[in-house]
Amino acid sequence: MNTPSDKSESKEESNCQPWEIHHWGEAFSTNDLARNLAPWSIAVCTVQSNGRGRFNRRWFGEKGGLWVSYTVPLDPSSSINWGHLPLVAGLSLLSAFESLGMTTARLRWPNDVLVGRSKLAGILVERPSSDMAVIGIGVNIHNDIESIADQLQDPPTKLANHVSPCPQPNEIMTLIANHLENLFKTFAISGLDAILEPLARAWKENLPVKILTDDQDYFGRFVGIDSVGNPQIIDDSGQLCTIPAHLINRLVENHS
Ligand code: BTN
Repeated sequence: MNTPSDKSESKEESNCQPWEIHHWGEAFSTNDLARNLAPWSIAVCTVQSNGRGRFNRRWFGEKGGLWVSYTVPLDPSSSINWGHLPLVAGLSLLSAFESLGMTTARLRWPNDVLVGRSKLAGILVERPSSDMAVIGIGVNIHNDIESIADQLQDPPTKLANHVSPCPQPNEIMTLIANHLENLFKTFAISGLDAILEPLARAWKENLPVKILTDDQDYFGRFVGIDSVGNPQIIDDSGQLCTIPAHLINRLVENHS
């Protein structure tokens, strides 16, 4: 039976331990479909017509890209800060891309994957209940990014421009599933500590940024996060400045 967020007549199901895959031809948003699935499910579609990005931005989902949401179980009684899940997802994407021989992708805090200044992938984590998270991921792979570039905040790039031969979306979906499963399981036991080391490498450059909070804007070079996940910058006077993550509305990279 189709739900309002399920536009497709045909939905296929398959298995990729521990994940159960639900594939729609066309959907509004895989994040909406995934919230009704059990943990360790994958909701994926070929074309996504109403994809959401962060800050309620539209996310274009043409054929050729990967539009997918993974559901993971959360233990509400554990001391793990589930707010760090976007970092887990971002690292999983980097390691999946690295396994294809691509080492140039980087993270922009908290959850964008870029190559240089161009956006390759985006992550939208939602928690429909206290015991499950939906990790929505969009990756430009073979889709036509040129025709939508003027409608996007960041200039886009796609995997096919960096990996040759470049796999199809379904193969990338499985690759990410494997990396996400491993990293999530480690994180669910040991928390942020377990991923601090790969994260320190993930930002790649100390780019100039503006960090916006309700009270003030901070300017400096982004150097990473501290041991509890707060972004750190070095300001113009050489001072290390730590900004509490929960106060941050947005981080913008300043490109001159
Ligand atoms: C962002 O960069 O702003 C996050 C983009 C997240 C897009 C993905 S595509 C699959 C999933 N379904 C959605 O509606 N959004 C996410």
